[in-house]
Amino acid sequence: MSAPVARSIPELIARKRDGQAHSRAELETLILGYVRGEVPDYQISAWLMAVYLRGMSAAETADLTLVMAGSGEQFDLSSLQNTVDKHSTGGVGDKTSLILTPMLAALGLSVAKMSGRGLAHTGGTIDKLESIPGWSGTLSDEAFLKQARDIGLALVGQSKDLAPADGLLYALRDVTATVDCLPLIASSIMSKKLASGAQTIVLDVKVGAGAFMKTLDDGLALARAMVDIGTHAGRRVRAVLTGMDAPLGRFAGNSLEVQEAVATLSGHGPHDLTELCVALAVEALSAFGEEAGQAEARARQTLQGGSALAKLRAFVAAQGGDPSYVDEPHKLDVAPGRAEVIAQTGGFVQAVDALAVGQAVLVLGGGRERKGQAIDHGVGVELVKKPGEAVQAGEVLARIYHRDGRGLEAAQQLLENGLSVGQGQPRVPELILGRVE
Ligand code: URA
Repeated sequence: MSAPVARSIPELIARKRDGQAHSRAELETLILGYVRGEVPDYQISAWLMAVYLRGMSAAETADLTLVMAGSGEQFDLSSLQNTVDKHSTGGVGDKTSLILTPMLAALGLSVAKMSGRGLAHTGGTIDKLESIPGWSGTLSDEAFLKQARDIGLALVGQSKDLAPADGLLYALRDVTATVDCLPLIASSIMSKKLASGAQTIVLDVKVGAGAFMKTLDDGLALARAMVDIGTHAGRRVRAVLTGMDAPLGRFAGNSLEVQEAVATLSGHGPHDLTELCVALAVEALSAFGEEAGQAEARARQTLQGGSALAKLRAFVAAQGGDPSYVDEPHKLDVAPGRAEVIAQTGGFVQAVDALAVGQAVLVLGGGRERKGQAIDHGVGVELVKKPGEAVQAGEVLARIYHRDGRGLEAAQQLLENGLSVGQGQPRVPELILGRVE
């Protein structure tokens, strides 16, 4: 066999510009060269645009992901049994990780997970957990593994050393109009998941107005691409496609979402959130070979019998948090200001725009526009009425929790535009839209 031809960076950009596929070695030249600072931003920007316009084959996308995953530290979870990770492509009011991860631990699986912070209209698990006094998302590697071994659940903020190529490429995509590109999204998400080390990965791919993927076809394509990448890398990956037109549950905002998560773990959460967590737990268990009926019964029992709530309590305490907030979540700091969005006419709620709710939380101070910005954990929005529910003129549609009026007017406007009431009862879209394994 002849040795592969070493190509210059302009030649590699030209190959992609002309629609050709890269070899793994070529991707290493581009991506690892960029991480080392040897390939400048302007060349990678041109290459990203070529990828955006020309796409990538499944094999190329898998190779790109492996190169990105190998660009920094890779977590070795081989000392843990039955490791499982979960990822959501991002939503509003999506407190699923707060509920699902203790459920999985209560089911005997090991969750040693890295999570992100919220950006723009989507929240982050670390921010939500930080509304519990004392809780910290920083652990040494040894403490992280020991805790996952001892109680089945450890959760830390994402290390900068994990898939550093992703952080660098994402920043460039953000300013070169190349975020919205399937192989780049799939490789970005999966590079971090592969480097995090879990053998089984359950993906919640959001579809709808409040999500990256607006249509079911696009969501399915992303789910298939990510499952293929994981399978290629020797991991068991399942994806569930779920609706994100309206927010999940009734609350958006950090402390408010922790309160709703605790209610769900106590067996009286909102129906959509409970069903989603059960469906994701069933996916995880069936990846380990458990029959679906038995998996569902066991998953529901962790909520009804209190074992998942007990795991959350142990997990909060292990990471420095005050576990009394798990038993008395009303003690969490919730901003004292209240304002209401009132229905002007009677009828049925037709739609609740998840993006508008996410943006309302952002303007109230509960989210960040730039990385590193401080947030107010206590503000947020309560959706008193959700799509399909009846409402009379003058009734409360949504409640705003604000601090000293900060962002109130803008939040009120966003919600007034985002909540629509009309005559006929609308067909509420299914929450679970499909699955890929
Ligand atoms: N989430 C990620 O981590 N990366 C993307 O490219 C999109 C969503």
